[in-house]
Amino acid sequence: MQELFVEGGNRLCGELTIQGSKNGVLPVLAATIVCAGECRVENCPHLSDVDASIAILRHLGCCTRWEDGALIVNTTHMDRNEVPDALMREMRSSVIFLGAILARQGEAVLSYPGGCELGPRPIDMHLAALRALGAEIEECGGTLRCTAKVMTAAELVLPMPSVGATENAILAACGAEGTTVIYNAAREPEITELQDFLNAMGAEVCGAGGSIVTVTGKRTLHGGAHRVIGDRIVEATYLCAAAECGGEVRLHGVDYRALSTVTAALSEAGCEIQSEEETVTLRSGGRLRAIRPVRTAPYPGFPTDAQPALMAALLRSAGSTVFVENIFENRFRHVDELARMGADVRVAGRVAVVSGVRTLHGARVKCTDLRGGAALVLAGLQAEGETRLTLLEHIDRGYESIERDLSALGARIERRNA
Ligand code: UD1
Repeated sequence: MQELFVEGGNRLCGELTIQGSKNGVLPVLAATIVCAGECRVENCPHLSDVDASIAILRHLGCCTRWEDGALIVNTTHMDRNEVPDALMREMRSSVIFLGAILARQGEAVLSYPGGCELGPRPIDMHLAALRALGAEIEECGGTLRCTAKVMTAAELVLPMPSVGATENAILAACGAEGTTVIYNAAREPEITELQDFLNAMGAEVCGAGGSIVTVTGKRTLHGGAHRVIGDRIVEATYLCAAAECGGEVRLHGVDYRALSTVTAALSEAGCEIQSEEETVTLRSGGRLRAIRPVRTAPYPGFPTDAQPALMAALLRSAGSTVFVENIFENRFRHVDELARMGADVRVAGRVAVVSGVRTLHGARVKCTDLRGGAALVLAGLQAEGETRLTLLEHIDRGYESIERDLSALGARIERRNA
């Protein structure tokens, strides 16, 4: 078992280049199998969720190797269309392989991804989109058997702009005859990233970044190269860390526009922020003030994934801040752990009220989920004394090495084998 030891109280200063995006690379890796060829994925982050995708690709008969920080995926000899339950369970977003396998093979057998730590995570919109494109889907004993001898383009209207359903629909539509139109598509930068990668392979996808995405399917695809965008949630986490600890950091690698709601909240809290293309500089005196209610929403609204980090940053702020979580039901699970450190956060359903306290103190805490785990690290950085975190596998799903990055900025944080 590994533990993170965090000694609070240091200011954060320095420069850092942010790792490649987890949510960007996962659909890109699934998309490699839509073509039969070799793809080069640059700036691929080293994460357990990426390892889970690699395990799925290899199980399907693809070859993968690392070469100078890039992941090379050769999908030429893909010869399977089923993903076993054990691999599906390793990562919730493995369902994204469904649309890609269907586009390539016309048939896919996957187990149901099931619930997750953020609450129930249904895939009804994913399945409705695939059915509309002509797939027949049988759900039996937790297994999904999808067959589509021929897939035909359709007009798809998503009831809400689900990121995963948009990605699955785009991938499946690459294998459908004609032009598919997806209305109410998610507008996240990761959708644009998937479009760019597919187009580099010869696909015809346009409109990503807006609410209407069109995909002209059945194009002849070939291998392609792609550079994964910087991870906006990792950058948001480190900006929040510097905001609460005080100091000056300069972070590179993420388009500042993708972070605008987060930087706006931090400037309202009292930080000075300068943004230019792929660099954000933040200066903070370390004592923040409460801000207007933060409501999570689909992009370009405030990201649900950055909510726990911002909440952690405001634990010692002057005043109270209301957080309204509109995307996931169960996004405040780490709050009980924060209470062990002296935080004052009241939760009622989807609302949490953070009342700033003068000091936090170190404690032994358990990570409850990926972003909640990062929030506990941020609480530890501003607490008096030592904080010890366990269940680090949650954090490792999305951060290459949170201790490497934060120590580079001057934090006292170390991973040890218990
Ligand atoms: C993705 C991100 C995740 C982020 C989330 C919201 C990846 C790998 N993960 O997750 O980090 O927190 O977007 O920005 O990119 N829903 C349904 N039915 C469906 C699909 C979704 O009811 O078929 C609901 C979900 O339960 C949730 C909401 O829609 O309440 C949004 O989910 P969605 O945008 O699909 O999130 P993910 O793609 O799972």
